[in-house]
Amino acid sequence: MSTARSKPAAKRKTATARKPAGTRKTTTKRGTAAKRRTTPARATKPKFTETLINVRGLKMHFPVTEGALIPKVVAHVKAVDGLNFDIMRGETLGLVGESGCGKTTTGRCILQLEKATSGDIIYDGHNLNTLNKQQMRPLRQRIQVIFQDPYSSLNPRMKIGEIITEPMKVHNTEPDEAARRKRALELLEVCGLNPKFADRYPHEMSGGQRQRVGIARALSVKPEFIICDEAVSALDVSIQAQVINLLEDLRDEFNLTYLFIAHDLSVVRHLCHRVAVMYLGKMVELADCDELFDHPLHPYTQALLNAVPIPDPAVEEKRAHQIIKGEIPSPINPPSGCVFHPRCPIAVDSCTEVVPEFREIRPGHWVACKEI
Ligand SMILES: Nc1ncnc2c1ncn2[C@@H]1O[C@H](COP(=O)(O)OP(=O)(O)OP(=O)(O)O)[C@@H](O)[C@H]1O
Ligand code: SF4
Ligand SMILES: [Mg+2]
Repeated sequence: MSTARSKPAAKRKTATARKPAGTRKTTTKRGTAAKRRTTPARATKPKFTETLINVRGLKMHFPVTEGALIPKVVAHVKAVDGLNFDIMRGETLGLVGESGCGKTTTGRCILQLEKATSGDIIYDGHNLNTLNKQQMRPLRQRIQVIFQDPYSSLNPRMKIGEIITEPMKVHNTEPDEAARRKRALELLEVCGLNPKFADRYPHEMSGGQRQRVGIARALSVKPEFIICDEAVSALDVSIQAQVINLLEDLRDEFNLTYLFIAHDLSVVRHLCHRVAVMYLGKMVELADCDELFDHPLHPYTQALLNAVPIPDPAVEEKRAHQIIKGEIPSPINPPSGCVFHPRCPIAVDSCTEVVPEFREIRPGHWVACKEI
């Protein structure tokens, strides 16, 4: 299934944008461009034509064991339970959903930090789930991650310069030490930081600065795909906006592809081209960003969007909030039929038995609900 948006191509912001990720010589321009804007710009609407990642039937069921001496598997946590989606080269796909719905596990499976129970992850023609360590090595360089916590994701004993040069050493992308150092300094500037920070330790920097270091580290090996797992969630709102702008500028400049995992829907709306909504290990809706926000079809997506406050007290007061009732069920023993049925305001009897198919209701708009 190709679910890429079909809107007209927008012009690239820079003349260098069509070059492969990281092959362009980095300049200080990027850092200043990132600083110039103070509010996140809306995602442009380019046309994506090439599938970079194709996820089919992805399942990650973690075994639950009992017994200290001879552990016995007594159940499974169905963290991810049959995901199907594509990510197009150059696009940003948002992945949203309540805590525990399986967003991080999906990212970890793509990164091969978890060995998926079943399913395929086809990355640029390579089925990641079938590759051994050695075969995976060159792909690890192309796929990077930015974590949520800028405090714990940087080694406190390493200087910033070492943190950025380390991946280059590991992947041998820059064999010469002086060249690695030069690139680290360039990347600091690209990410809007003073190159002098290279000789500082992480504890000498603010949260926003550390997150920029995390981005510089991810870029150091010239990746083409970056998984941003709640990459801005730990930051103050104003710093969030700066880092989002930076991510957007870098995406356009280096032709990066992002999987942007977040629970803040307003951030997702600003940055993402398409958005996928997960619930209890399954994908319930996937659509073009504007389409999803303006015409949400799945009752869970509608409830999620309804829960986003509107910054106008008068409008907010009049709004009839559709709160999702009940707690998210356990992924160890998910509900039968449609997993959303215990909380669904429009559920009918058959929803307890029939698993809804994830189907394309409008061009590019996929929904898992049989009542729509
Ligand atoms: N290694 C593991 N072993 C067992 N269960 C796990 C493991 N990792 C994750 N889980 C479970 O899988 C489910 C999905 O977790 P995951 O971290 O992917 O959710 P998430 O959507 O990223 O949540 P959050 O928004 O809180 O980060 C949760 O129920 C979690 O407890
Ligand atoms: S299939 Fe039934 S329970 Fe599931 S979302 Fe649709 S109406 Fe609700
Ligand atoms: Mg998570």
